[in-house]
Amino acid sequence: MLNLIKTWKALSAQGIMGINRRNADYVLKYNKRHLYPVVDDKILTKERAIAAGIDVPELYGIIETEKEVDKLPGILAKHKDFVIKPAQGAGGDGIIVIADRYEGRYKTVSGKIISHEEIEHHISSILSGLYSLGGHRDRVLIEYRVTPDPIFKGISYEGVPDIRIIVLMGYPVMAMLRLPTRQSSGKANLHQGAIGVGVDLATGLTLKGTWLNNKITKHPDTAQEVEGVQLPDWDGFMKLAAGCYELSGLGYIGVDMVLDQEKGPLILELNARPGLNIQIANDAGLTKRTHAVEARIAELKKKGIEETPEERVRFAQEMFGHTARQTPSA
Ligand SMILES: Nc1ncnc2c1ncn2[C@@H]1O[C@H](COP(=O)(O)OP(=O)(O)O)[C@@H](O)[C@H]1O
Ligand SMILES: [Mg+2]
Repeated sequence: MLNLIKTWKALSAQGIMGINRRNADYVLKYNKRHLYPVVDDKILTKERAIAAGIDVPELYGIIETEKEVDKLPGILAKHKDFVIKPAQGAGGDGIIVIADRYEGRYKTVSGKIISHEEIEHHISSILSGLYSLGGHRDRVLIEYRVTPDPIFKGISYEGVPDIRIIVLMGYPVMAMLRLPTRQSSGKANLHQGAIGVGVDLATGLTLKGTWLNNKITKHPDTAQEVEGVQLPDWDGFMKLAAGCYELSGLGYIGVDMVLDQEKGPLILELNARPGLNIQIANDAGLTKRTHAVEARIAELKKKGIEETPEERVRFAQEMFGHTARQTPSA
């Protein structure tokens, strides 16, 4: 018991944020309840993003009732590849990524062949609430399949890596690259078995990785180094994430983005209760950074100043960049 307390104290000293502090001091404090639906429903997030001029994977169609399952062939007719997902899903559950057609059937990214009936059955399951928060009836969205930028070829396995940035009041505080593995079936969710890799906020250079709670330096399927990879258009990702404060009105969010080979950076989803594992991937605690942002906001408030997304990104890069982190006081 004493040991546990010691460990906890040591972690707190490093500024590691625990679940209770996240909920009380950040989620409850900065996220107004009535704004949750916009981020908890991926169809609403998409509509809001489009209205704000932010790029998202194109919506091919929505299925809202059993009766509308008949619309499926019409929605899919023009598309060889597509993604089916529950509007209110989480953690990658219930998502099917179809990469191709095969003799009247569908082929997933991992090469599994699925019949049209199986797809219909899956859609019914989504509608019945199998994957939705709280088991409520849900809607199905069918969207453009992202093809990852070739930069990720050696460091991910079948599927799309995503970039998560935690944003407090429009200030990016920590970032992580999530890489699909054979185990995660093309999805970049950590609990599905994806790798989390820290990212230096100043430069977009990757740091060390964690996989199933172990530190790693190489991708388990490709054996390539995950550390030291330069993410392209890093400032673009930072600006996109910072702007999601204005888009959603939520003060504490995880912004998930992907880099499409043709369309560039796209927003995949926003999360109002972002996970805490990002701290392990970055070997750094969130609390010191969030406190720095809160101090910044308080200071600016006295002067009656509010910063633009560009200014907020600059502050974050100067304060939380990897080199800044190595100074003794940090
Ligand atoms: N349009 C898409 N194209 C390709 N892969 C996708 C697409 N949408 C989601 N994915 C994969 O599935 C993962 C989870 O998707 P996401 O929309 O974030 O849902 P969840 O809320 O379940 O995390 C992503 O990280 C990505 O790897
Ligand atoms: Mg996600």
